[in-house]
Formats: sequence, C-alpha cells, structure tokens
Amino acid sequence: MKCLRIAVLPGDGIGPEIIKEAVKVCDSISKKFGHEIKWNYALVGAAAIDATGNPYPEQTHKICVNADAILFGALGDPKYDYDPTAKVRPEQGLLEMRKKLGLYANIRPTFVFPSLLEKSPIKRDRIIGTDLVFVRELTGGIYFGEKGTKENGKVAYDTCLYSEKEIIRLAKVGFDLARKRNKRLCCVDKANVLESSRLWRKTIQRMEYSYKDIEVSYEFADAVAMRLIQSPNMYDVLVTANLFGDILTDEASVISGSMGLMPSASIGSETSLYEPIHGSYPQAAGKNIANPIATILSAAMMFEQSFKLSEESQMIRKAVDLCINESILSEDLALSKNAYSTSEIGSWISEKILSL
Ligand code: IPM
Ligand code: MN
Repeated sequence: MKCLRIAVLPGDGIGPEIIKEAVKVCDSISKKFGHEIKWNYALVGAAAIDATGNPYPEQTHKICVNADAILFGALGDPKYDYDPTAKVRPEQGLLEMRKKLGLYANIRPTFVFPSLLEKSPIKRDRIIGTDLVFVRELTGGIYFGEKGTKENGKVAYDTCLYSEKEIIRLAKVGFDLARKRNKRLCCVDKANVLESSRLWRKTIQRMEYSYKDIEVSYEFADAVAMRLIQSPNMYDVLVTANLFGDILTDEASVISGSMGLMPSASIGSETSLYEPIHGSYPQAAGKNIANPIATILSAAMMFEQSFKLSEESQMIRKAVDLCINESILSEDLALSKNAYSTSEIGSWISEKILSL
C-alpha cells in the first residue's frame, strides 16, 4: 500500500469536469490496489486570477511542491484572448508554474485506437500503427528568452536561447524513452537557419556515443510538419525545442481523431505534472459533454512515471481501451444522439476497473 499525495489543479473551462472523472478513476484504482490518496485542491489560471489576482498563487505553488505529483486540468478564458493589453493572463500561470517547478520535459504521445481510425481526418492506411512520442523542452527557448519592445512599441523581439546543459537534460529523457520503445530518436530543429538549433544538433550528435543502440536522425521542423501528416508511423521518439514542440504536438494530436484522447506528462526534477493536451474548451464548459479520456490517460501516466506503479497504470489503460471498443464515446467521437456524457464515461471506466 502506498500513500499518495496528489495536488489537483482543475483550472478553467472544462478543467473541473474532466478532472472530476480522473479523480473518480484514481479513487477506483486506490480502492482496488489498497492505496490511499490524499487530494489537495488548488487554484490556477483565470479561476485563480478571479479569486486572488494571481494566475499561479503562492499557496498553489506550496501545494504543488509538497505533492508527489500534480494532476492538472486546463487553463484559459476567452475574456483574455482578445485583449492583448491585459496585465495578467491565465497562461502566465502555466509558464510560471513550469519555470518554478522546473518542469523541463514535456512528454506528449500520439497513438491511434484501432476502432477509431475512421475518426481521423487522415486516411486510415497512413495512420495505422502510429505510436510516437514528442519530448518537448518546456522551460527554455523562445518562451523564456529575453523579450521586449522598442521604438515606442513599433518593434518587438523574443530571443531563443539554449544552453548545452538544457539540451543534454532534455535529450537524455528522449534517449532513455527511445531505449524502452523502438530505439529510434529524431531530433527536430531548424539547424539550416538557427544557431540555437545547431547547438542542439552538435550536442545530440555527441550524445550518440553513449547510446549506440539508438538510431538517431536529424530532421528540420518544417519537413517534420509535413511528414507527420504523410506518414506519422515512421516516427518513434522526437525531441525538440519549446516552440517547435508546441506547434508540432498540436498538429500530431489530430491524428488520433480527437484532441480529447491524448495525455501528457511534464517531468520535473522533483515533482511532475500530468495534464490532457487539449485546452479549456470554454464553449463546452459546464455542459458535461467534454471527453475525459485524455485526463484519465494522464492519470495513467502519473501512476507509471511518478509512482512507479505500472500495474495500476496498465489497468487504467485497459479500462479505457474497453470503453472505446464498446463505443462509450463522447460528442467529439460519436453522433450527439449516441454520445455519452463526461461523467458517464468517467463512471463507466471507474466501475470497469473495480470489476477487472
Ligand atoms: C501548451 C499550451 C501553452 C504553451 C500555452 C497555454 C501557454 O499551448 O501547453 O501547449 O504554449 O505551451
Ligand atoms: Mn500548445
């Protein structure tokens, strides 16, 4: 038996609804395996701005630091999107959290469910067998480099800066993951143009000697954007900088047929955070129609990576597979007259776990 302290940050939009279902599923797992989970709720994003004026309050940071893992919903509110002059924005909360918790490696898998191949906008024969993982650098690069405006706001700049140390730390996560999978690693960059990308390439080339069993390739980000759609099943693990990873993982997420299916983990040196890759989907907030599976699969990643409880993790994944095979699907994947609600899907998976 383990006592697990989990910080829960539901956030904005559909965040609270999908988190509720993932919590249900984790509680089923703890009941089944005799663990104890202590849930600690905290505010983040627009919800935190409304309550405290700060998108990542000190109290939330404290709860995260003292947790064994963090389960995160989504963040963002349209009232900020059309106001470039807003002084505080929900997204700042996420960036501050990543930086302060040192969540340097963002692991975003893309895979397909055999029974959902027809839901993908890409032809079936191109995506069959797709099973790839992006490892996106998350606390550096152009997101965090020097930025500013000059000439009375008529000129603006953002700097992309990477150190060898940051690249090695990130690439190590990619190499180690490739070793556990199909032993192929692709470094995605723009080394034909960017100095920082040339440092990525040089650094990873040097690391190849310590990973002789891994087949390493180097591809430009624009070409990868194309190949991800043409033949996604050629990739295994891809490592890349913050901004390329942001863009390419959104692109990759459509392969599965719905953004509502794909989980993610943000690995830190102390605590790690688990969240669905989709956003706060404000149009669906409060309607009980969002797909909770991405969040439930994020919880599965949490059991595996943070708690080293593989059996528990596999059981969540198995229950999700059964749920999908039995067409217990939400509106993003089913005709709305046949669709199941967020809470029905969460309950189905939780009950399935107890009966497995
Ligand atoms: C993501 C999001 C964030 C990012 C935003 C909300 C700051 O798009 O997690 O991919 O750009 O990293
Ligand atoms: Mn993004």
